[in-house]
Amino acid sequence: MTDTPAVAESIRTSILRRSYRKAFPSAVRGEGVYLWDSAGKRYLDFAGSAAVNFIGHGVQEISAAMAEQARQLEFVHSSQFTTPVAEEYAQALIEFAGENFRGGGVFFTSGGSEATETALKLARQYQVEIGQGKRHQVLSRTQSYHGATLGALAVSGNQRRREIYLPMVREFAHIGIPYCYRCSYDCKDGCRNCGQEYAAELERAVLAANGEAAAFIFEPVSGATLGAVAPPPGYLESVAEICKRHGVLLIADEVMTGMGRTGRNFAVEHWGVAPDIVVTAKGMSSGYAPLGAVIANKKVVDAIASGSGSLLHGFTYNAHPISMAAGLAVLRYLGERQLVQAAETVGASLQSALEGLRELESVGDVRGIGLLWGVEFVSDKRSKKPFAPELNFAGRVGQAAMKRGLMLYPMQGCVDGVAGDHLLIAPPAVISEEQIRWAVEQLRAAVVELTT
Ligand SMILES: Cc1ncc(COP(=O)(O)O)c(C=O)c1O
Repeated sequence: MTDTPAVAESIRTSILRRSYRKAFPSAVRGEGVYLWDSAGKRYLDFAGSAAVNFIGHGVQEISAAMAEQARQLEFVHSSQFTTPVAEEYAQALIEFAGENFRGGGVFFTSGGSEATETALKLARQYQVEIGQGKRHQVLSRTQSYHGATLGALAVSGNQRRREIYLPMVREFAHIGIPYCYRCSYDCKDGCRNCGQEYAAELERAVLAANGEAAAFIFEPVSGATLGAVAPPPGYLESVAEICKRHGVLLIADEVMTGMGRTGRNFAVEHWGVAPDIVVTAKGMSSGYAPLGAVIANKKVVDAIASGSGSLLHGFTYNAHPISMAAGLAVLRYLGERQLVQAAETVGASLQSALEGLRELESVGDVRGIGLLWGVEFVSDKRSKKPFAPELNFAGRVGQAAMKRGLMLYPMQGCVDGVAGDHLLIAPPAVISEEQIRWAVEQLRAAVVELTT
């Protein structure tokens, strides 16, 4: 990716970079589904950066609301003050989260990892408050990602992202995750029945924890790690029932899937599941400000409010007024323009365009829901054999697409944590049919370029 003059002349600048193997173009402007670099090159943001932007770039209402808040009051510490904007936003979010969260509460953070950390600690404190002090283990799933901080990495399963930190984290049980294209139960019916086999793994893990399980955390639709894998029928319903029966809190990590991305306010709604705690971020502010949240149901909030009365947790910047103004403006904007509904209808067009990629020799699977899609590559379609990881196939598709002005989110490791290449596609909900058609054409051309 060194083809545009906008690429920083030197890879090594004063920024400690995510990669010293490539140069990054310098982004200067965004509007709708497009981003521009400093050389004037335009990119269609087909991944919403990393499933972040949902309302489109450059929406003036959002920056105006943030500027107005900054003019009035830039910051107070949440141990000393609340603010009108935080109160209004929390109330609006509780309503957005639906009946299950009526009477509950929102804890605001600066992003997804902080929100996961908060949820883990909140689950532990809840158990202590109700006299279940033995419960401290948080169970999770193998191929998953819940954040970059050490607590969040402990419950994540994404091998590449956590491998070298393992000696630093305290680990609890990780159960298998339903991944129909490569089902561990080797079923032939699209996982119609094996949802129950996967759910039974949770029950066994809870029993093995011997009364110490505090919570179970899961992504309703797998995000980056597997690439938009939705659960099989009945699985999440059984998981929720098992947690309830064993006094284990159910934490839905909707950092990527929440705030409309899948065509529902929160993805769990597709399966009628009512978690005790929802973790969310990305789409909340659509990227206009650093923002995340933990939404807890009444049971959890009551345990603390009428128990010890104080949450043993906090960050300097939780409920930052400018982030609150951004989040509230985004929530209003997506409500007024019915963007959650759009995620379902536009998602259907995206699906039919992406399905056409299946005819390519290297495309093994196309999967997803709403505006969250994954394309998995294979070196042999019949055996589903992945490309050798060192080929960095998805990464190279991403680079070829970027040259064509198309932004994707390439990942590796979906097969076993190391092998397996896939792309995540998660455009803003304002993408048009014409833009989808163009983007999928570029994607196809990028894949063909690499395989011919
Ligand atoms: C499901 C999920 N949880 C947590 C996180 C961490 O969020 P953040 O990167 O905002 O800290 C991510 C980020 O991609 C995510 O996809």
